[in-house]
Order: sequence, then C-alpha cells, then structure tokens
Amino acid sequence: MSANIQEAADAAIEPVSFVKVPALEPPTSLQQMIHDWQLIKHREGGYFKETDRSPLTMDLEKPQDGDSTDSVTVTRNQSTLIYYLLTPDSPIGKFHKNINRITHILQRGKGQYVLVYPDGQVKSFRVGFDYKKGEVSQWVVPGGVFKASFLVPNEEFDNGLLISEVVVPGFDFEDHTFMKGEDELKSLVGPERAAELAFLV
Ligand code: GUN
Repeated sequence: MSANIQEAADAAIEPVSFVKVPALEPPTSLQQMIHDWQLIKHREGGYFKETDRSPLTMDLEKPQDGDSTDSVTVTRNQSTLIYYLLTPDSPIGKFHKNINRITHILQRGKGQYVLVYPDGQVKSFRVGFDYKKGEVSQWVVPGGVFKASFLVPNEEFDNGLLISEVVVPGFDFEDHTFMKGEDELKSLVGPERAAELAFLV
C-alpha cells in the first residue's frame, strides 16, 4: 500500500533539463496515446480528457468573492473524472487551486508535485510506484491549496506521467484559479522560495 502525502518523503525540487526546456514533440508512444484517447492540451500544461461527469447534480452554498458573509447557491455535477498526462513537450502543470479537494491516482510513470498552502508552507513529493523511496501513488490535495506538477524521467512510461483525478463536487472553472504570476507566489512563500519555484508559475 502506498503512503498518503502526509507520509510522503519530502523531495528536493530539481527539475531535469527537459522540464526547463520542453521537447518539441512527445515520444511516439505518448503521441499515440494522446491520439488514441483524444487527449487535449490543458490550459495549465499537459494533456487531459474528462472521462466521466456524474449526471446527478447538487446545489451548494458558495461564498462570494471578497465578502465572506455573502453566499450564492450554485449547481454542480456530483463528481468528475479525468485523465491527465504530462509529456516531455508539455512537462509542467502550472500552479492553480480549486475550492474543492482533488483525489489523484497514479496510472503510469513518475512525477513530482509541489503544494503551496495558504500560510506559505511548501510541500513537495514524488509520485511513482517505488514506495520504498517514499513515492506515493494516491494523493489528495485539499481545497484552497495551490498545486503544480512536473515530470520526473522514467523508463517505464517513456518519460511520461499519467494520472486520474476525481473532483467532488464536479469540476467547474468557477471553482478554479490560476496563480497570478510570480508576485502571488512571492507573497505566499517569500522571494527566495519564489525564485526556486518560478518555473512552475
Ligand atoms: N476542463 C478543463 N480543466 C478541467 C479539469 O481539470 N477537470 C475537468 N473535469 N474538466 C476540466
């Protein structure tokens, strides 16, 4: 059994060259998968496909931006499921957050996640099946926590990372926010850590 992220070993943030300077094309095997599964480019980087959206819906009270006392009722699907793929030509998922917690399940390959909590704490861990090295194959990112990811070289999946993500309630762009540039990162983690993490913004 894999550890959860609380038990995951802290990993140093040392991206390899193809993370900093992406390849021009994915390896043929990953290109074939993108084609066969009809994965499309994600705005945050990488490729994805929504493979399920619950037909059942739920009504939720959502706080209004800027005024915590005010809320609106919104309707969401009960859950969504995606495949998400990082490849050497698109090796980074840039910092973003969702108001809802997101469950991640590793399918193939290796990668590294970097989480930035609202209090500025940074947690980074590797995802893979080598549990003895502290890698994890399931991880849950809490709502309101910024998340970024990048590829870790691996032979078993031709330098790719394929995961599944489940969101409850289901994904809606209204619940999703990209980090607003390096300034927001700096305000959370300070200038030194922000310089180290800038490639993920
Ligand atoms: N559409 C664009 N991005 C996403 C995502 O991350 N999840 C889902 N389910 N749909 C999306």
